[in-house]
Amino acid sequence: MGRVAVGVAVIGAAAVVAGAALVVRQRMKNSGRWASVRAVVKELEEKCGTPDARLKQIADALNVEMHAGLASEGGSKIKMLISYVDNLPTGDEEGTFYALDLGGTNFRVLRVELGGKERGVVHQEFAEASIPPALMSGSSDALFDYIAEKLAAFVADEERIYEQPAGKERELGFTFSFPVMQNSINSGTLIRWTKGFSIDDAVGQDVVVEITKAMKRKGVDMRVAALVNDTIGTLAGGRHSDPDVSVAVILGTGSNAAYVERAQAIPKWHGPLPKSGEMAINMEWGNFRSSHLPLTEYDNAMDADSLNPGEQIFEKLISGMYLGEILRRVLLRLAEEACFFGDEIPAKLKSPFILRTPEMSAMHHDTSPDLKVVDDKLKSVLEISHTSVKKRRVVVELINIISSRGARLAAAGILGVLKKLGKDVSKEKTIIAMDGGLYEHYMEYRKCLESTVFDLLGDTTGTSVVFEHYNDGSGIGAALIAASHSLYLDQKF
Ligand code: BGC
Repeated sequence: MGRVAVGVAVIGAAAVVAGAALVVRQRMKNSGRWASVRAVVKELEEKCGTPDARLKQIADALNVEMHAGLASEGGSKIKMLISYVDNLPTGDEEGTFYALDLGGTNFRVLRVELGGKERGVVHQEFAEASIPPALMSGSSDALFDYIAEKLAAFVADEERIYEQPAGKERELGFTFSFPVMQNSINSGTLIRWTKGFSIDDAVGQDVVVEITKAMKRKGVDMRVAALVNDTIGTLAGGRHSDPDVSVAVILGTGSNAAYVERAQAIPKWHGPLPKSGEMAINMEWGNFRSSHLPLTEYDNAMDADSLNPGEQIFEKLISGMYLGEILRRVLLRLAEEACFFGDEIPAKLKSPFILRTPEMSAMHHDTSPDLKVVDDKLKSVLEISHTSVKKRRVVVELINIISSRGARLAAAGILGVLKKLGKDVSKEKTIIAMDGGLYEHYMEYRKCLESTVFDLLGDTTGTSVVFEHYNDGSGIGAALIAASHSLYLDQKF
């Protein structure tokens, strides 16, 4: 072999060795990264743990807070607000009523025709509009003017098909799904905003006065007969269909629960005892917090960056506005610490709230062998391509951890309410009226919530608690409550 040939052979061998070393180094780097990925997932799983014993402690803690909130105003983080609804619908309600439903990024206007016992809800019509994001943090007048304008358009439109009887004002049930301290069935001041709204000059104002002024400005002739929270509307809508409904839970953008309390069990109520002996309570459970809640660094950071730090902690663990954002934060950590999506951190992953819960739910329900939906969502929402199936599985694993924690905690909340009512030990049938997009569309979450309540209650009591989805309590329920508080009540019943 000539000298040149030997030289080439040596260089060739060196290149092979170097190449092999590179592969080994790359493998070691990859396995190091993979170990970091697994460590992050394991840590999340541990910190999000919700064994049954802990859920029972949470239910007990909620129960204690419920008592404290009923005892005195400001006695607890959960407000236990008096709704002034002391008679839930009976089915006798009759006439045409309107509902205005403002609770998240969309709002709706409805006209509902109630036909009494015989005919129930005869007809309903509605229009929906989204709230432009700028209005969610603008001024009170701007928000209410916008709503009143849409209301004016709805009324103008319906005048072609529906004629309001002469001399009779249109009556409205106003579903306003934020914490409001009511002074009567149709007045109440906003305590604070939640769910991404932050309109400072509206806090402390009577929202019925505000919408009434805006309706005047826009030439809408309507009277607010009832101001209700969406949970109270759902309770009313549920009770209208079934007398066994005594609890309502919303799991949507935000979360909350309402239930029927004995008036005598409300020490802070100083008014005359209602004839029914009952009062519907809007718990505002979203603001519940307890040392038993499994909070992680991601929750704490999300809370600190939120518009309402330190508030709505329970809501931030269980509701639709936040689950996708928690996932984004975990994925960002994986990208930063373990180069999960390659050497560069995907720019979109740094954008708060870009990953919404409906997308998370779609990925959770992906049954394709190569997790095609996960791949699609990572591409379309986060602009992340070329993920391996192994990595997609990690994404689903994270989703499962975050979603199960939320659903199980919501179940603990429900157990707390059932305990307050003594229904955790009773065989009497209790129907829980459920509503909200998270409950309606996120089946894994829903299944986990329902089976957890069942397991916590045990076989004997578990079967007597029934979940019913009451779609649209915040619309029809508000119209029903408006009907039972109508000015023209005597003429109808
Ligand atoms: C609000 C509640 C509301 C719930 C569900 C929460 O953020 O504080 O009033 O019932 O969301 O819409």
